Amino acid sequence: MLIRKAEDIRPSEITSKSNYLNRRNFLKSAGAIGGSALAGPALSAVVPVEEHAKIPNIATSRFSKEERNNSLEDISTYNNYYEFGTGKADPHKYSQKFKPRPWKITVDGEAEETGTYDFDDFIKPFDAEERIYRMRCVEAWSMVIPWVGISLAEVVKRFKPTSKAKYVAFTTLHDPSRMPGQRSRVLDWPYREGLTIAEATNPLAILAIGIYGEALPNQNGAPIRLVTPWKYGFKGIKGIVRMSFVEKQPRTSWNLSAPQEYGFYANVNPDVDHPRWSQARERRIGTGLFADKIPTRMFNGYGEQVADLYKGLDLRKNF
Ligand code: MTE
Repeated sequence: MLIRKAEDIRPSEITSKSNYLNRRNFLKSAGAIGGSALAGPALSAVVPVEEHAKIPNIATSRFSKEERNNSLEDISTYNNYYEFGTGKADPHKYSQKFKPRPWKITVDGEAEETGTYDFDDFIKPFDAEERIYRMRCVEAWSMVIPWVGISLAEVVKRFKPTSKAKYVAFTTLHDPSRMPGQRSRVLDWPYREGLTIAEATNPLAILAIGIYGEALPNQNGAPIRLVTPWKYGFKGIKGIVRMSFVEKQPRTSWNLSAPQEYGFYANVNPDVDHPRWSQARERRIGTGLFADKIPTRMFNGYGEQVADLYKGLDLRKNF
């Protein structure tokens, strides 16, 4: 099968043409005024503050998989978010009072455009798209989630990384007064993650801002989190406040905490056992405890889009 490289897929193929052209014009005029670039005409990505309000103008994406989605209840009550506790029900229980506003995102490091932006200004230049993705967690459970997101490739391009930038490092908010789990030392806070520039500019990677057409629930990472469906769930850092373009491979939370169990790449690979369990099969949440497990696929079934990124890399060593 012919595998297209990420750089061969034009942004106009991913988003609607009119939005693409509008955004081009916006980026051009934004570029002309330099650093204050994100203040400009609003295009499509807007997240209303009212609870359960629908995100307007969501485009569908050709990357969505036809599968039965998990219910919002499954998706928002069985979570990992150690900032709100280590149990699967804790994030739902303990994040209800969390206010994901005001919210600032800092972009820094090896890029021509850097700065600190209000969340709403940060997402404004991009299209909000629905991406239905299969998600696979390292503990052998999986879900199908109708995310609403903006293309990470477009975000990266907008900040114009320099040739020195080899990776993008992401950081979660560190505020123990708002995130009670950070009062315990279960992880070395703040939560951190990273991608290579090639991974971050693969068309599948998104920054999610919603689920089922509504703003992200707090427990799923409001107001903005990473989604890379070919990698284990732990790569999907939530509550992002910083994106840094860096030259060296960044340290990541789970790799720091248990390097023998969690590597930098974290690609879904049924052939490499986790030191404490097999990764060959998975249980789809919502199908019942006694339902048959299903086989896990290489790159979670997204090999056609991403296998190229790892050519020549030993995926047993670089797990
Ligand atoms: N991001 C932060 N900031 N803190 C976390 O503890 N847990 C990760 C990831 N992102 C985590 C995080 C893990 S282990 C998983 S499996 C996914 O979030 C779970 O995402 P979900 O709860 O939306 O399914």
